[in-house]
Amino acid sequence: MSTAKQREARLEAVADEIRAHKGARCGFEVCETCTQLVPGVGPASASIVVVGEAPGAKEDAAGVPFVGAAGKLLNTLFDEAGIARDDVFITNVVKARPPKNRDPKAPEVAHHWPWLEAQLEIIAPQLLVPLGRHALARFAPDAKIAEVHGTAIEVEGRRLFPLYHPAAALYNGGLRATLVADAQALGRALR
Ligand code: URA
Repeated sequence: MSTAKQREARLEAVADEIRAHKGARCGFEVCETCTQLVPGVGPASASIVVVGEAPGAKEDAAGVPFVGAAGKLLNTLFDEAGIARDDVFITNVVKARPPKNRDPKAPEVAHHWPWLEAQLEIIAPQLLVPLGRHALARFAPDAKIAEVHGTAIEVEGRRLFPLYHPAAALYNGGLRATLVADAQALGRALR
């Protein structure tokens, strides 16, 4: 088996472990009330990993991240950045939908964190794109999204390129233009 195939198999093994967790009765509300856990989508060879917050209702039903309205905008942003979907792995900090889409709680984030670390270790992306302040806080606790969005920052050996969360632009039309400009800057940072 080639190295690329081995990485793919390791990434799939993490996804299997995440999905199997649904039956684990761990006591965490998100894991027990979701329809299914949502590991992420994309190849182990991805050079970019996009990290959202947690699945919403559509993602909970489909088992795939960013398939709803925020996902459509995310696809537009990839186009603006000139990024091919095949070059991206998309996942969330928390792999299970919080009831009524509430913010994930810190213990839930800590509970799911090792899966994200395992995915990042296998993929070893050139660039990590946290979407919104919650995802950013996991990688750069001292950074403020209003100050660092649309720029590359280096934190603990990781190259981050934070963007506002696309869902925020669905409620705040003014943010959409900023997100598009930031996505174009992301495209330039990759060239
Ligand atoms: N918002 C997120 O943060 N993640 C998803 O998968 C969908 C919407």
